Order: sequence, then C-alpha cells, then structure tokens
Amino acid sequence: MATTASIIHALVLFNLLFKGFCQCGLQDITIGTERTSALVEGKQEWNVSFINTCKCPQQALVVSCDGFQTVEKVSPDVFAPVGNNCTVNGGRPIPPFATVQFLYAWDPPFIFVPLSSQVNC
Ligand SMILES: *[C@@H]1O[C@H](CO)[C@@H](O)[C@H](O)[C@H]1NC(C)=O
Ligand SMILES: *[C@@H]1O[C@H](CO)[C@@H](O)[C@H](O)[C@H]1NC(C)=O
Repeated sequence: MATTASIIHALVLFNLLFKGFCQCGLQDITIGTERTSALVEGKQEWNVSFINTCKCPQQALVVSCDGFQTVEKVSPDVFAPVGNNCTVNGGRPIPPFATVQFLYAWDPPFIFVPLSSQVNC
C-alpha cells in the first residue's frame, strides 16, 4: 500500500515537474542586437541573435519586423519577411538553448518582438 502511494506520489511530482519545464513560450525567446564593426554600403551592420532559453525546442517562431530593410543579403532560411512579420529559422525548430543568428545592415537598427512560436515538449 505504502509503496503504491509513493509511486503515485512520485508520478504526480514527476508530472508537475515535467509540466513546469514545459511552461515556456515566447518569454523564453531572447533577442539580442549587437553592433558589428562593419559598414555595408555605408549602413551600420548589426548582429541579431534569437536564443531559445526553453528546455524544449521551439518552432514556427514569428517576430514583428515592420518595415524591415537591409542592404546586406539575408538568407530567407534564417530570417524572412512574411507580411508585416518575419519568420526565424525558416519556421524550423530551434533546439533548447540554441541561438539563431544573422547579420543585416541598416540605419537605424530594427526592434524585433516575438509574436508567436510553437513549443515542442
Ligand atoms: C554574432 O553574434 C554571435 C553571438 O553573440 C557570435 O557568436 C558571432 O561571432 C557574431 N558574429 C559577428 C559577425 O559578429
Ligand atoms: C503579424 O502579427 C500580427 C500580430 O500578431 C498578426 O495580427 C498578423 O496576422 C501577423 N501577420 C502575419 C502575416 O503573420
């Protein structure tokens, strides 16, 4: 009896923990923009990182990028405009704690805000 109760207890605890790990989403996407030392066609170059700080992969990441322009070619596999928003990593999963990074050149820099993603736990 006691053993069964402990097992159920352990299962409930495990379930809670597991759910806890999966309570992530857009707040677990960190976006950083760093100035590089380069100019492209007279425009400042910027290094943008999207970091998935969730323990699970996140895919189909869409960020706001209204008015995004660049004189440096950006691979659509990494960052591509879709209407007023942009898809990151071609919508493919970003592994836990992985960074997707790209370079663009424009002045002033753009501010990207995560709009939606799918967490795969
Ligand atoms: C861009 O930033 C990433 C992450 O900080 C870094 O690993 C990479 O070397 C940088 N690339 C350039 C060209 O600055
Ligand atoms: C862009 O994001 C806005 C706000 O979430 C949304 O209303 C709109 O449908 C999105 N557009 C595209 C093309 O994904």
